[in-house]
Amino acid sequence: MIRVATLDDIETIRRICDASFDLNRWSNTSFIQEFSKDHSIIYIYEFEGQAVGYMVIWKLSLTVELVTFAIDKEYQNRGLGKKFLTTIIKENKGYTWFLEVNVCNDVALNLYKYFNFKECGIIKNYYGSNLNAVRMTREAVS
Ligand SMILES: CC(C)(COP(=O)(O)OP(=O)(O)OC[C@H]1O[C@@H](n2cnc3c(N)ncnc32)[C@H](O)[C@@H]1OP(=O)(O)O)[C@@H](O)C(=O)NCCC(=O)NCCS
Repeated sequence: MIRVATLDDIETIRRICDASFDLNRWSNTSFIQEFSKDHSIIYIYEFEGQAVGYMVIWKLSLTVELVTFAIDKEYQNRGLGKKFLTTIIKENKGYTWFLEVNVCNDVALNLYKYFNFKECGIIKNYYGSNLNAVRMTREAVS
């Protein structure tokens, strides 16, 4: 089941975030701030009754920015990330998508390419010194 997060999910989101990212981990405050932004939506993926993933998107007038996205380490490589993104893309049909991903993150790069995201730029030092990001976009499809 995929649902919109509430403030009660913050601890779970933080736990998944800390286990999934070596760089750029978000603080509780960063997640809490998302709840006050009109354009921000935080989704939770529940699998077998357990929250196993989260995704933050910024939904603007014509575009969606995939801000951050993770599946709990214990549940990775089982197709859940693909299912999660499939559902959220369907739910936000007609929007052009953008995201940034670490140039070294082959798993995420493969996943995004599967969904027809194309590379549209490199952002140097995005994650720190010599840690570059690939900017990707996916054209709007109806
Ligand atoms: C990226 C992430 C969300 C993917 O979720 P997941 O549930 O593990 O992914 P899935 O099992 O659905 O696999 C989806 C696709 O990812 C790619 N993939 C998965 N594991 C991979 C691996 N070990 N090596 C290369 N590609 C891999 C494949 O394209 C795979 O599709 P396929 O199985 O049909 O070949 C998850 O690995 C994660 O949370 N990583 C840490 C946080 C992160 O990097 N988030 C993205 C930041 S932009």
